[in-house]
Amino acid sequence: MSDSRKGVVILGVFVADLAFRAPRQPSMGETLLASGFAMGPGGKGSNQAVAAARAGGDVTFLTRLGADTFGRMAHEIWAWAGVRPRVAMTENTETGAAYIFVQDGTGENAIIIAPGAGARITPDDMRDARATIEGAKIFMTQLETAVETGRAALEIARGAGVTTILNPAPAAELPDDMLGLCDFVIPNESEAEALTGIAVGGPAEAERAAEALRKRGAGTAIVTLGARGVYLCSATQSLHIPAFTQGKVVETTGAGDAFCGAFATALAEGQDPVRAAQFGCAAAAISVSRPGTAPSMPLRKEIDTLMEQTAG
Ligand code: ATP
Ligand code: RIB
Repeated sequence: MSDSRKGVVILGVFVADLAFRAPRQPSMGETLLASGFAMGPGGKGSNQAVAAARAGGDVTFLTRLGADTFGRMAHEIWAWAGVRPRVAMTENTETGAAYIFVQDGTGENAIIIAPGAGARITPDDMRDARATIEGAKIFMTQLETAVETGRAALEIARGAGVTTILNPAPAAELPDDMLGLCDFVIPNESEAEALTGIAVGGPAEAERAAEALRKRGAGTAIVTLGARGVYLCSATQSLHIPAFTQGKVVETTGAGDAFCGAFATALAEGQDPVRAAQFGCAAAAISVSRPGTAPSMPLRKEIDTLMEQTAG
């Protein structure tokens, strides 16, 4: 029987990103003048939904918002990107926010996130969304919602034969059997270390960490390595996929989300995982050449152009 499912369903959090640019972070008790400030849409799940839709996917986003200014910002970015929101409103809880320090010069970041209403998404919300999850080709989530909520959604997806992706960010303890619900797990270097105890400094350690994640039950592990690309390890393949270069690096915040969102769209189209990871790397390379998180996600034609230029 042929499978006509093509959609990407993403569970996660929307927050407003409050990004402060400075040469360094302040010490305790110290106040620094910023060299720049920007407020914009963020939250890993929402960023991934925006990235997947801009990359050409048919995307539904499951979340909770407060009835406030930041909640309205969420609807604006989803409308801009073409994301289909499925949102529960939460009484007496505000939409969350993230403090983002962006280092002058390098564009590297450090983040504190308060998920706000997104922290109130429950396993029962996932059971209410069962039909949406079961109708997807790809289901993806992260760890900004409660772990039991992500797990409940992964169980529903797995039970319906939906391809499952977990981006285990921010780093957190996982129940032993949770990786076994994941066809793909996509940590960055520090998240891979938190899950495996292996300090990842490059492709060699990433291979060992990816193998360890597979031993814990993940189908395919993809460790993202910043400017060095990703390491992919499946039952049949183990290889380093280099990053693309695309001009000056302006801000790396959301690079992992750009990769995950574009990767999910490519998988939903039936591309093989290596090709999908290359597509994700191209999307992420473009995103780091622009400021902001969700607004930096590239359109499909921009990703295709970069891939064609690099191949040629
Ligand atoms: P963040 O938490 O800032 O969103 P992350 O730590 O989850 O990012 P990274 O591993 O830093 O994710 O980056 C994800 C992907 O983005 C990389 O695998 C790579 O393909 C791409 N990328 C990141 N930084 C660069 C860069 N400087 N140049 C080109 N591509 C990059
Ligand atoms: O991955 C980047 C995101 O992490 C930011 O947009 C911020 O909101 C945090 O959730």
